Amino acid sequence: MARRCEGKHQLLRDIRLFGDPVLRTKAEPVVDFDLELRNLVKDLTETMLDAPGVGLAAPQIGVSLRVFTYHVDDDEPGHLVNPRLSLDGEEEDDDEGCLSLPGLQFPTPRAPRVVASGFNMFGDPVTVEGTELLARCVQHETDHLDGILFIDRLDKKQRKLAMKAIREAEWSGIPVPQVKVSPHSTQRIS
Ligand code: NI
Repeated sequence: MARRCEGKHQLLRDIRLFGDPVLRTKAEPVVDFDLELRNLVKDLTETMLDAPGVGLAAPQIGVSLRVFTYHVDDDEPGHLVNPRLSLDGEEEDDDEGCLSLPGLQFPTPRAPRVVASGFNMFGDPVTVEGTELLARCVQHETDHLDGILFIDRLDKKQRKLAMKAIREAEWSGIPVPQVKVSPHSTQRIS
């Protein structure tokens, strides 16, 4: 967690990438609805808008707390603390991506309707009802709080393609096998 200097609040935070253990850690419920939480929501919102992304969960900036922000269509950015979801309808596939896996997009099954109840940063109970992209986003971000990534939701074939794309992504920490120059095969072995 970044240290804060008084009067000099840092807004843009580094987005953690696939491979960072914080993305695989179940986040803790928020207990204190204090200034620290409000600063976290502010950081998440600014980092999400800057990226830009339709949603960002606290673990993605290295904070293992059950908080996420969202920004769907041209509505005001929103946030939700300690969300509990109620899903409705038959799952539908649509392309989905994640700021922690830059450049990857795969058809991901999600329920078409969601009712999310939780709290705002002041501790007031709130409910977010969403369909389509908002429903998808709320499910994706809530998954982050449980250490689940969208690639975990893919069918076997798509997941294989996703893992291949991760291995080949330039941001990936997984070393790509290097092929020495030789008069024979120059094919990459993977
Ligand atoms: Ni994500």
